[in-house]
Amino acid sequence: MQLATVAFDKFQHLEEQACEQRILDAKAKLGKRLVILCHHYQRADVYKYADLTGDSLKLSRLAGQTNAEYIVFCGVHFMAEVADILSRPEQIAILPDLAAGCSMADMANLAKVERAWRELTEILDPDEQVTPVTYINSAADLKAFCGEHGGIVCTSSNAGKILEWSFSRREKVLFFPDQHLGRWSGYKMGIPLEQMLVWDFDEPLGGHSVEAVKNAKMFLWKGHCSVHQMFQVQHILRFRNQYPDGLVISHPECNFEVCKQSDFVGSTEYIVRTITDAKESTRWLVGTELNLVNRLADQLKAQNKVVQFMAPTVCMCSTMARIDPQHLAWTLENLAGGKIVNQITVPAHEAELAKLALQRMLDVS
Ligand code: 13P
Ligand code: SF4
Repeated sequence: MQLATVAFDKFQHLEEQACEQRILDAKAKLGKRLVILCHHYQRADVYKYADLTGDSLKLSRLAGQTNAEYIVFCGVHFMAEVADILSRPEQIAILPDLAAGCSMADMANLAKVERAWRELTEILDPDEQVTPVTYINSAADLKAFCGEHGGIVCTSSNAGKILEWSFSRREKVLFFPDQHLGRWSGYKMGIPLEQMLVWDFDEPLGGHSVEAVKNAKMFLWKGHCSVHQMFQVQHILRFRNQYPDGLVISHPECNFEVCKQSDFVGSTEYIVRTITDAKESTRWLVGTELNLVNRLADQLKAQNKVVQFMAPTVCMCSTMARIDPQHLAWTLENLAGGKIVNQITVPAHEAELAKLALQRMLDVS
C-alpha cells in the first residue's frame, strides 16, 4: 500500500517545543535506521539533534562509513549530494529543505566550466597541462567533470595537499568556484600572486591575453562566499588595537588580506580544534559563520576563553539556516511513517565520475 506523504504546511507554524517532541519521537522510532549529520554552521536548534558533526571533509568521510538506511543531512545541497555519492546504493540521502543551497557553489556551473576548458584548449592542451580542482562546495556535475578530466575535489581542510598532488601531475590548475581558497592555498605553497589569474567566466578567455594564460600557474574562478566576504582587515586591526594579546583565526574563504592578517587560517574543524586546544583565558577573534562562533563562545566560557565574532554585522549562512526544526520534524515524521521526502539522488553516470574525483581526494588526504 502506498503511504501518503504528510504535507509540510502542517509543520510550518509548529512551536519549537512541539517540533522537539515530534523529532525525538520519530528519532526513537527510527533508531539505528537513521543518522543525522550536521555541519558546524548549522543553527543551534537543529544542531542539538545531530548524531555526527564536522566540517565538509569529516562529514564526507562519515557519510561513506555510516550504516544507517537514512542519512539526513542538515547542511546544504552539495553536502547531501556527496553523502549520496559516497554512501552505499541502498542508503538514502535526504536534505530536509531542498532550498538549502550554497550561493558560492551556484557561482560555477558545468556550461561555464566547459566553456573555460574549451577556451584553454585553443592555447594549451588542458588534459595534459591543467588539473581541474573543484572545491567540495560545487554541484555533482562539476565533480564529475573533474573526475573525467584527471582532476580532483578539495575541501578547506586539504586544499594545500590537493594542490601539491595536482601540480605533481600537471603544470597548471583551474580552481573553482572559490577564488579565495584557491589564492590562499596557492600563496601558501609559494605561487606568486601574479601567476594566479582570476578567471572571469563572463569574459572571453577569462578576461586575459593568450600570453598571460600561458604564463599563469593557477586560474582562479571568480566565485566567493558572501558570508566570508563580510570580514574585513579593519575588524582585525581594531581588535588588535584593543587586545594586543588576542588571537585571530579565519576560514580560508575570507579574502586574502584577512587571511594574511590572521594568526591562524583553516577549515571549520581546524578552527574548533585550535580554539578548544588553546591555553585557558585566551581571547579569540573568529572570521567564520556566526552559528559556529556563538557555539564556541558558549562552550569555551568554562575555560575562561573569550570567543568573538569578527564582523559587527550578522553573517550567517542563511541558506543552511533554512533547515529549521519544522523541516527536520516534517522529514523525520514522514520517514518514521514509511515515506521518503526530499531524497537527493545524483544520476548514476555523474555519480561514478564524481566519486572518482572524491576518492582521489580521500586517498590524498
Ligand atoms: P568547511 O570545509 O570548513 O566545512 O567549510 C565549508 C563551508 O561551506 C564553509 O563556508
Ligand atoms: Fe556556501 Fe558560504 Fe554557506 Fe559555506 S557559508 S555553505 S560557502 S554560502
